[in-house]
Amino acid sequence: MPLTTFVFDAYGTLLDVNAAAMQAAQEPAHNDLAAVWPELARDWRLKQLQYTWLRAVADQHCDFWQVTQDGLDWAMEAHGLNNRATRARLLELYWELSAYPEVADMLAALKAKGVATAILSNGSPDMLQGAVASAGIGHLLDAVLSAEDVGVFKPHARVYDLVGAKFDCPPENVLFVSSNGWDAAGAAGYGFQTVWVNRGGEPVDRLYASPHHVLRDLTTLPEFL
Ligand code: LAC
Repeated sequence: MPLTTFVFDAYGTLLDVNAAAMQAAQEPAHNDLAAVWPELARDWRLKQLQYTWLRAVADQHCDFWQVTQDGLDWAMEAHGLNNRATRARLLELYWELSAYPEVADMLAALKAKGVATAILSNGSPDMLQGAVASAGIGHLLDAVLSAEDVGVFKPHARVYDLVGAKFDCPPENVLFVSSNGWDAAGAAGYGFQTVWVNRGGEPVDRLYASPHHVLRDLTTLPEFL
């Protein structure tokens, strides 16, 4: 089946989730982060994701902004940080994360080849709008789809259903791209073609499905056409 629709996870795939902690750590007002920011960023992300899965399983949905704050609060306490201004700055920066360097050229190449492009993210619509605008990639996307519209987080099938509902295409025409191994696996299990962007050289997740392709970054993605 021909690929007609390229769909991207947002955080960690197009947008660099570590950028907030890295940038804040360089600011004199937040030098409490200087020694710990990589570990803080890792634990913040890990808790944020765990809370999405746990809330999905327990049927206790809240939006992604809430789990983002809850994950940060856990991580700051774990690293002995209690500066309210640092918390506020980290959260502010989450609305303006930078895109990875290859993203704009890659999306432009896909648009030049005439395929549809979209984000499908757990992020709430306002978070995604802010991040896409600050990354300057809004004009290269046909849609920004949010899990908030179905009230549950990935990898629940209701979230992946949003793609077919928007683009009126069968799952096998979709190439779903994520840097989250569990998300690429979930999307493969759903029936999408999948690419796992394994930026960190991690082992493949042992789940009910596996990604079809693995890349180190997004540079060569247009070659799938
Ligand atoms: C997202 C998270 C899972 O953008 O990275 O959906």
